[in-house]
Amino acid sequence: MSDSITITDNRTGESIEIPIADGGVDATEWRKLLPNVWFFDPGFMTTAACSSAITELDGDAGILRYRGYPIEELAANSSYIEVSYLLIHGELPTPAQFEAWNHEVTYHTFIHENMRKRFMEGFHYDAHPMGMLVSAIAALSTFYPEAKAIADAEIRHKQIVRLIAKMPTIAACAHRFYSGMPFVYPDNSKKFTENFLNMMFNPVEWVDYANPVLAKALDTLFILHADHEQNCSTSAMRVVGSSHADPYTACSAAAAALYGPRHGGANEQVVRMLTEIGSIDNVPDFVRSVKEGSGGRLQGFGHRVYKNYDPRATIIKQTAEEVFEVTGKNPLLDIALKLEEVALKDEYFLSRKLYPNVDFYSGLIYQAMSFPIDMFPVLFAIPRTSGWLAHWQELLEQDSRISRPRQLYIGEGERKYVPIDQR
Ligand code: ACO
Repeated sequence: MSDSITITDNRTGESIEIPIADGGVDATEWRKLLPNVWFFDPGFMTTAACSSAITELDGDAGILRYRGYPIEELAANSSYIEVSYLLIHGELPTPAQFEAWNHEVTYHTFIHENMRKRFMEGFHYDAHPMGMLVSAIAALSTFYPEAKAIADAEIRHKQIVRLIAKMPTIAACAHRFYSGMPFVYPDNSKKFTENFLNMMFNPVEWVDYANPVLAKALDTLFILHADHEQNCSTSAMRVVGSSHADPYTACSAAAAALYGPRHGGANEQVVRMLTEIGSIDNVPDFVRSVKEGSGGRLQGFGHRVYKNYDPRATIIKQTAEEVFEVTGKNPLLDIALKLEEVALKDEYFLSRKLYPNVDFYSGLIYQAMSFPIDMFPVLFAIPRTSGWLAHWQELLEQDSRISRPRQLYIGEGERKYVPIDQR
């Protein structure tokens, strides 16, 4: 075999040849030769934890495809609702399938009144909307106890529809609560993103919430954020899903993972960083401080998988221009452009293959559209829900085993317990 590796156990002299297929090797063979010898791989840098037919990502070539369709084509021609169908079902819908899916999602947008009045309104007045969202998703499981029947395809489908449909309602509800504004009910005559903008901002006079250009731009951002194969939050979804928890509980764990600044919180950090830099003149000093380690990381730069320009960042730059034509330019844009220009000429960033990722420009668009910074990770969670659920469904169909990695124990050896008064 030319494309293979040979592993020899020097303790026994036994060898095994394992084919390299699709760029990797199957650990099943390795396990047969070396039972109980584990592979140390913190952060899963070299471990494929599952097989998946949903999203293809080639970080070196800057390629991202959902179910085989390039992200550029989907962003230019599709809608988030269609993309969510594609991710969940594996194929683009026929017109009849699209209509049925759109109808289902549209008519599951309402949340139980107790969810809003008792649960959401129980938070402290200035609760972070992402904290509210994470908790609210988990709370949904108590409203739909049948969701536990994860082996039933019909029940699974119902929860998938509910989750995709209710995310914008919960997100807007969290925003209205912490900004002290009355809740706006879903309007099922509107399209997905139009409805969300309406629930968020109606009747705030300084926000152009009914403008179709803004609804379209948000829809494009939702397409770009809908899935990204085995990222941190999707892995959380798969790990929790593998214990056969209901989809609301698993989705809430995924949303919790997304909350972190290294993942879905990065767009929030980008805007805070640009605001702190304050002016183009301060960019070189800031870049120097990042390189020296005193300025923290350049937020919105770098990616575990992309070692080239993130293809989503290219599309977002175009979307930003369309949005700024309506809203006026975000004053932080010039600082961002300068930062990108300086970083992309700098040996530190070039040698480490650090390029702008999806979050570098998305925050500027959200800010121009009047979304408060605290809402940024929530805006990421709304579309990523369809990706999480596509992976959850795939995981169950694969009948996969419970996720349970090994560890390298580095703690104390056996010790004798010492009573507290003798310590
Ligand atoms: N700014 C400055 N240096 C960086 C950055 C950055 N943004 N990202 C990585 N580096 C440096 C590291 O210091 C390290 O340098 P070293 O080899 O001299 O020690 C090297 O590049 C490799 O970095 P790692 O941390 O090993 O890369 P990893 O793949 O683990 O991390 C991550 C990827 C978390 C995205 C990282 O690049 C980062 O923190 N970026 C900023 C936060 C961000 O934008 N996150 C959004 C990611 S996209 C998303 O979730 C949608």
